[in-house]
Amino acid sequence: TFRWTRSLQLTLAVIKPDAVAHPIISDAVHQRILDNKFLIVRNKELQWRAKDSQSFYQEHAGRFFYQRLVEFMSSGPMRAYILAHEDAIQLWRDIMGPTKVFRARITAPETIRGHLGLTDTRNTTHGSDSVESACREISFFFPDFDVSRWYEEQEPLYR
Ligand code: PPS
Repeated sequence: TFRWTRSLQLTLAVIKPDAVAHPIISDAVHQRILDNKFLIVRNKELQWRAKDSQSFYQEHAGRFFYQRLVEFMSSGPMRAYILAHEDAIQLWRDIMGPTKVFRARITAPETIRGHLGLTDTRNTTHGSDSVESACREISFFFPDFDVSRWYEEQEPLYR
C-alpha cells in the first residue's frame, strides 16, 4: 500500500467575485490548483451577505479599504475550496503572489495575482495565512467540516 511520507496540511482558498464573474479567469485559477497537485477536500460556490463579509474581515475594520473590501466580497458569487497539500498554506500563498497588484505585476508576474489581479481589492483569490486562520476560515466557510477530525483521520496514513 502507498504511504505518504510527509503530512498534509489544510488551507482555505477562495476565488473572489471578480474572478468568478469571468469563467476564463476562474477556470485558470482552478487549473492552478490542479497543476500544483492540491487535493480538493471540499469545493462550493456561495454568495455572502454584507454581514458575513464584515465578520470575516473584522481584523481589517477601520482600515481605509475595509468598506470597499466588504462591499466587493459580498457583490457576487465566490468559489471556496478546502485544499490539502504538504505545506498547503505557504504553497497557496506563493502561487497567489503578493496582495498588492502593482507589486505582483512587477515582482511576480507568473503568480495568480501578478497575472490576473486587477486591483488590491479585486485580486482574484484569498488564502489563509497561518494554521490558526486556516482553521478559523475553513469553519467559517464550511461550518459542517470538522478540521480536527480530518487531521485525526489522516494520522494513521503516516504511521
Ligand atoms: S496588508 O496590507 O498586509 O494588511 O494586507 P493583507 O493582510 O495581506 O490583506 C488585506 C486584505 O484586504 C484586501 N484589500 C486590500 N489590502 C491592501 N490594500 C488595499 N487597498 C486593499 N483593498 C482590499 C486584500 O485583498 C486582502 O484580502 P484577502 O482576502 O485577505 O486576501
